[in-house]
Amino acid sequence: MDKVMLLLLLCLWAETLCLVRGEDPYLFFTWKITYGTISPLGVPQQGILINGEFPGPNINSTGNNNIVINVFNNLDEPFMLTWLGMQHRKNCWQDGTLGTGCPIPPGQNYTYHFQPKDQIGTYFYYPTTAMHKAAGAFGGLRVNSRLLIPVPYADPEDDYTVLIGDWYTKSHTILKKFLDSGRSLGRPEGVLINGKNAKGDGTDEPLFTMKPGKTYKYRICNVGLKNSLNLRIQGHPMKLVEMEGSHTVQNTYDSLDVHIGQCYSVLVTADKDAKDYYMIASTRFTKTVLTGKGIVRYTNGKGPASSEIPEAPVGWAWSLNQFRSFRWNLTASAARPNPQGSYKYGQINITRTIKLVNSASKVDGKLRYGLNGVSHIDGETPLKLAEYFGLADKVFKYDIIGDNPPDALDKLTLAPNVVKVTFRTFVEIIFENHEKSIQSYNLDGYSFFPVAIEPGTWTPEKRKNYNLLDTVSRHTIQVFPKSWAAIMLTFDNAGMWNLRSEIAENRYLGQQLYISVESPERSLRDEYNMRDDQLLCGIVKGLPIPKPYS
Ligand SMILES: *[C@@H]1O[C@H](CO)[C@@H](O)[C@H](O)[C@H]1NC(C)=O
Ligand SMILES: *[C@@H]1O[C@H](CO)[C@@H](O)[C@H](O)[C@H]1NC(C)=O
Ligand SMILES: *[C@@H]1O[C@H](CO)[C@@H](O)[C@H](O)[C@H]1NC(C)=O
Ligand SMILES: *[C@@H]1O[C@H](CO)[C@@H](O)[C@H](O)[C@H]1NC(C)=O
Repeated sequence: MDKVMLLLLLCLWAETLCLVRGEDPYLFFTWKITYGTISPLGVPQQGILINGEFPGPNINSTGNNNIVINVFNNLDEPFMLTWLGMQHRKNCWQDGTLGTGCPIPPGQNYTYHFQPKDQIGTYFYYPTTAMHKAAGAFGGLRVNSRLLIPVPYADPEDDYTVLIGDWYTKSHTILKKFLDSGRSLGRPEGVLINGKNAKGDGTDEPLFTMKPGKTYKYRICNVGLKNSLNLRIQGHPMKLVEMEGSHTVQNTYDSLDVHIGQCYSVLVTADKDAKDYYMIASTRFTKTVLTGKGIVRYTNGKGPASSEIPEAPVGWAWSLNQFRSFRWNLTASAARPNPQGSYKYGQINITRTIKLVNSASKVDGKLRYGLNGVSHIDGETPLKLAEYFGLADKVFKYDIIGDNPPDALDKLTLAPNVVKVTFRTFVEIIFENHEKSIQSYNLDGYSFFPVAIEPGTWTPEKRKNYNLLDTVSRHTIQVFPKSWAAIMLTFDNAGMWNLRSEIAENRYLGQQLYISVESPERSLRDEYNMRDDQLLCGIVKGLPIPKPYS
């Protein structure tokens, strides 16, 4: 038995042994946020750059690394970043949402400190302020497996990040004005892959290159504003291996539907004729299909990509079937050496069911979106800070929505929407969508089990059809038109966590809420203290810092 194997067995035997090895490594970054002119669709427009880059830099980390990012906001507006899918264990302070922290004022800087504790996988970051995401400042975030933990596939030749998203040529300021004045965003102008769209006239530089015979990993995330996208590569099937931090059963797909906020890792082998191939991302469920293309080139390649673009599937039943084919690999290791399937979520009793129904309505003549009749608004004081300073009652009321939707959903109330959930309880959340448009929901701070997506409305009898064995644990789930989705999770991460529509327009206009998970004791065992350099704003600005957790 070699040393690595022995050490691995020791880890499996008593995981604490492996922790006796000093502090986890640190990764330091300094990011300058600026405006800059970009022309991804050939039309010059104002973009938001990170260190001059669009899209922003990729973060390449390993599980448990300490990530420290000093962000200088050189825009003329407050700015803030969220790290989609990072669970921030005990540390919602670094989540980068308007309910958990203050945005960075223009001309100032703030340092994010976070650790992908017991996490692996494919993620991305993006701005949560205004409509900044429409202008850039998003980028890939990968968390590699720690060395001693086996990964259920051979090391790929290289590892590529593929950020796909719909794109507007209007500036984020104009798009925000649309929403503020009660209009909708309208249709995007195109689809980008890593900030580009191939012209197809023979002058395009390749986005990715592959050596013949080798296998590559592509990490695909939909970073767009509203459209689900179908992703495919001419002539190259994709073997799905990971989804938002979980190893999947390795099925092969000709194309994948990627809904807003979702990420997949696939393996692709360069075993076809040596030439160029198009990678294609096209909009789903839209009357007019918008298509973005990028070139994948064989290093020994001779010849352009064929102009024959493989068709995308039609209708959402296909997409639902694809969702049902996704399975958790129960025997693969997670971010810890124990198998993913050792957490038997299907055997835990549900302590509470929260059913959330989304609706759209006009309030004072302006379009708003809501959940269970409430359209969330962000105030000057972040909810978490209000709670920490003991001033919650001055800023918001808990539980203004019930666990069931009201009978009439056509009237929306504008208010901060905060639901209290008891620490460590196992909760079922049903998202019911009565609208004709697809929804996509993310919950910060957690990974959850999407046990079902079905057409129609939910009833308790539907639980009979739940996948209680091997659904893939993830952070973002779609809900098809006139359908529902059910998720289950244990609320064991104390903090204030955003549950939101990942569709930018819906989120901006109120289709989100916060879940306050308070541990009964103010204890460091359950939650970290606010850092000394935490930005303060609203009514807590200038107040003495409360007694820290101990
Ligand atoms: C990412 O980090 C890992 C571990 O440090 C390293 O092996 C790998 O080469 C890095 N990949 C890139 C693309 O920088
Ligand atoms: C701002 O940047 C400086 C370094 O230039 C750093 O010392 C300071 O801690 C940063 N401030 C915050 C709040 O992160
Ligand atoms: C699941 O993971 C195990 C352990 O790494 C691996 O041997 C197996 O091939 C994987 N199964 C599938 C169906 O992907
Ligand atoms: C779950 O509930 C059932 C029925 O009420 C009960 O018999 C069982 O002991 C409970 N299981 C656990 C793990 O609490």
